[in-house]
Amino acid sequence: MSEIFNIGLGNNRPEIRKQSESDFVSFWDNQAKKLCWFSPWQKTLEWNPPFAKWFQGGSINASYNALDIHQETNSQKPAIIWEAESGESRILTYRDLWMEVQKFANALKSLGIKKGDRVTIYLPMVPELPIAMLACARIGATHTVVFSGFSSASLRERIEDSRSKLVITSDGGYRRGKIIKLKEIVDEAIQDFDFVKNVIVLERTKEPFQLTSKDKIWSELVQGALAECESERLDSLHPLYILYTSGTTGKPKGVLHGTGGYLAHLHSTFGWAFDIKDSDVFFCTADIGWVTGHSYVVYGPLLHGATEIIFEGAPDYPDASRMWEIIQKYKVTIFYTTPTALRMFMKFGNDIPRSFDLSSLRLLGTVGEPINPEVWRWYYTIIGKEKCPIIDTWWQTETGGMMISPLPGIETIPLKPGSGTRPIPGVKISVVDEEGRPVKPNTKGYLIIQNPWPGMLLTLWGDDEKYQKTYWSKYQNIYYSGDFAKIDEDGYFWLLGRADDVLKVAGHRIGTAEIESCIVSHQDIAESAVCGIPDDIKGEVIISFAVLKENVKKDWLILKHEIFEKIRKDIGPIATPKQIYFVSKLPKTRSGKIMRRLLKSIANNEKIGDTSTLEDGTAVSEVQSAFEELQKSINEKNS
Ligand code: WTA
Repeated sequence: MSEIFNIGLGNNRPEIRKQSESDFVSFWDNQAKKLCWFSPWQKTLEWNPPFAKWFQGGSINASYNALDIHQETNSQKPAIIWEAESGESRILTYRDLWMEVQKFANALKSLGIKKGDRVTIYLPMVPELPIAMLACARIGATHTVVFSGFSSASLRERIEDSRSKLVITSDGGYRRGKIIKLKEIVDEAIQDFDFVKNVIVLERTKEPFQLTSKDKIWSELVQGALAECESERLDSLHPLYILYTSGTTGKPKGVLHGTGGYLAHLHSTFGWAFDIKDSDVFFCTADIGWVTGHSYVVYGPLLHGATEIIFEGAPDYPDASRMWEIIQKYKVTIFYTTPTALRMFMKFGNDIPRSFDLSSLRLLGTVGEPINPEVWRWYYTIIGKEKCPIIDTWWQTETGGMMISPLPGIETIPLKPGSGTRPIPGVKISVVDEEGRPVKPNTKGYLIIQNPWPGMLLTLWGDDEKYQKTYWSKYQNIYYSGDFAKIDEDGYFWLLGRADDVLKVAGHRIGTAEIESCIVSHQDIAESAVCGIPDDIKGEVIISFAVLKENVKKDWLILKHEIFEKIRKDIGPIATPKQIYFVSKLPKTRSGKIMRRLLKSIANNEKIGDTSTLEDGTAVSEVQSAFEELQKSINEKNS
């Protein structure tokens, strides 16, 4: 029997789930009516598997729903409270944000950006990032935000794939007191890309940078821009954004989200999960460069006219009290973060959070990776003082918004540490075996989604076939999430990590194939395999194995350094492995697939399980002894 927390807080509106059970299409039809549409849709759902068209024929605008609708009632309410890494802050009311977005939208127009164009945004966590996104949405340009921790090569790949006409960046960004020169990274990324017509540069650090003929300075552009910019009336299916995410192949996939369905999903889930009230101060720590930032920093809170904190920098910089200081300072009521951040805070000890007044908090959330029950309990007790429900929200870049979560805004169900409880209303999620048959309670299986849902991706940018193959081919016309899960005897869902070769390192999604292809592109490497192993703080860390080309006789420390540098340069620092082991052979199945399970066991110092499918039994012992040897030499070096 698992531990249960009965939390009385929240609303009890059982009719919502009831409505969803009778007919999910008319249920979502009603939910979507809560948004402001320029013209109504003719058809709620056209389901032509694997393509769903939600609210077809309706016209809507995301920026209008995030900003214009609040101007009469809430224009002076803070929309964004921005905390810079330096401690400097800035408050933008709904009126301020609306004005800035309109001016910037006109600036975009002045550079010839129009409906349907793609715009890459490579900015740090500054208010100009949501401003740029909302300005694109306003005129119907499709934004593609690239996390500012990604390298020049990654950025280049994304700009090229999306064929962005414009890149928006800043002279630099702050990270742990250091300046990262983003403009230089952009210059390198767009070399010889004639299709990139302009680069808008925000002067964030005021450090000098080289101006090219394509560059426009943000402040100058905005100064000359007209104040008013009407929102484009866009089709419900108009592509709002592309967000690149890692999958099982070497190349990141461009997840494409539409407008009407996505907004309806976010409006509903933000309200249901966070039980949002006018007086709330919402704080989601995600970087906007990832999907959580798109959905629950930019669109979700603004659709609801909420006040939110956006912060720049690292959660433990300048010190371990940074988050608690912000919560105390702004009387944050809802805090949404990752299990990795919580594990780190937990390690810093209880005295730090206890020395702050956290009494304003009323609801806590987590996202991005499984949360260990002991961390859940710590969050509940030390941060929430045993009075805040914890919502453990499961979802993906592809789902657009939350799919499994406790929903204090509509129902009070007992919580179990480590479980996301149940699917949201209006979606049908199940756990099945290899053949697609539902598994028995408490049995591990694959998490699948049986119905289309409004926030689902439209497709993968420019690759309908891959979209079909990746998500809809393992089980016909059923969405395959790539996650393992189980359902317990009470119908609660427990997420058990990825079933494929995608890693979640500190909550960041990284594909093993991306790292492997980077490692093998080093001139001395013949083959490589990458896997994740559990880590106390980051949830998972990257371990890599490499086979050297014949006759390579380089010092392995030098080689290791070169490879890690290459990964940082080609992908970004977040993809740096914790360790690399040089081996003479990789363990493979008879069909030639690398046995990651085996590598994981070796890296974890575990006993090796069934190896009957190994192509060459000797490889196991070889990898094992190579590992032991390396372990020995590491130990010797450290002693
Ligand atoms: C994992 C992040 C357990 C899962 C929003 C999923 C989770 C992947 C949870 C998507 C959770 C997300 N519990 N695992 N509450 N939330 N995941 O696209 O493996 O960056 O498939 O979206 O994160 O990662 P993505």
